[in-house]
Amino acid sequence: MANEVTQVLLNAQSVDGSVRKQAEESLKQFQEQNLAGFLLALSGELASEEKPVDSRKLAGLILKNALDAKEQHRKFKLVQRWLSLDVGVKTQIKACLLQTLASPVYEARSTTSQVIAKVAGIELPQKQWPELIGSLLSTVVQGMNPSEGSNDVKLAATRALYNALSFVQANFSNDMERDYIMKVVCESTLSPEVKIRQAAFECLVSVSSSYYEKIAPYMQDIFNISAKAVKEDEEPVALQAIEFWSSICDEEIDILGDYGGDFTADSKVPCFYFIKQALPALVPMLLETLLKH
Ligand SMILES: *[C@@H]1O[C@H](CO)[C@@H](O)[C@H](O)[C@H]1NC(C)=O
Ligand SMILES: *[C@@H]1O[C@H](CO)[C@@H](O)[C@H](O)[C@H]1NC(C)=O
Repeated sequence: MANEVTQVLLNAQSVDGSVRKQAEESLKQFQEQNLAGFLLALSGELASEEKPVDSRKLAGLILKNALDAKEQHRKFKLVQRWLSLDVGVKTQIKACLLQTLASPVYEARSTTSQVIAKVAGIELPQKQWPELIGSLLSTVVQGMNPSEGSNDVKLAATRALYNALSFVQANFSNDMERDYIMKVVCESTLSPEVKIRQAAFECLVSVSSSYYEKIAPYMQDIFNISAKAVKEDEEPVALQAIEFWSSICDEEIDILGDYGGDFTADSKVPCFYFIKQALPALVPMLLETLLKH
């Protein structure tokens, strides 16, 4: 059966139109007759190091398209369909996806990180994939002096983390879990790999807008690393570092606006005046940046 799936996935990419059409037809039938078996077979294909890269890639792509669509009505149907699948089946699929993050094959890692992001988008708001964050964090953390090869894995995990962060209120309410997440994210802003540093600052931006009221203990550290990034780092990283402060600024304007207005006493988030405190240091930092361009 598994070999059959591989062949069908390869045929679906054949240059011969009739071979391709027949393969697409079999895939469609398999999906209609046994959705769980179909998705399991695809995730197994994606995870298997013995399979050709082309069949793994297509397996991941089909999985991704089985979870999300541009058109709202279809998207809703796909989400409901995933949620109604057997828990054991989903657990097995998710294990395959996470396992593939560590694959030596770039295409497999890259594809799986996209599928993980889709599953996370569906499950995290439903509090259904509690071990995801821990598993991404340990991937981002392992070996701070990475060999070349594992950088892609960390980048994939950091990006998946970015997608997941706004859904993990429970972890941010727990001091130890929050400290750990922030430690990993802050450390990643110092990665030797520019794309990882950028993705890590993107995570900080996401944290600043989702968890403003929780970040006071980390502000000194974040100020230090963002000042360094603005001063010395490559532009995409420096811009994300500035974006962090811009996002804090937006939060504080919102909070102060709420307090100032007559109708919006529903905001329970206090203003920590981070911007006011950081201003003496922020202004020179931003002026220097302006002068650079
Ligand atoms: C995040 O919270 C969930 C649910 O409480 C928990 O199962 C998981 O271990 C936490 N992850 C981390 C990294 O602390
Ligand atoms: C931030 O940088 C300043 C000046 O370089 C240093 O004195 C301070 O210890 C750093 N703080 C943290 C929390 O790293």
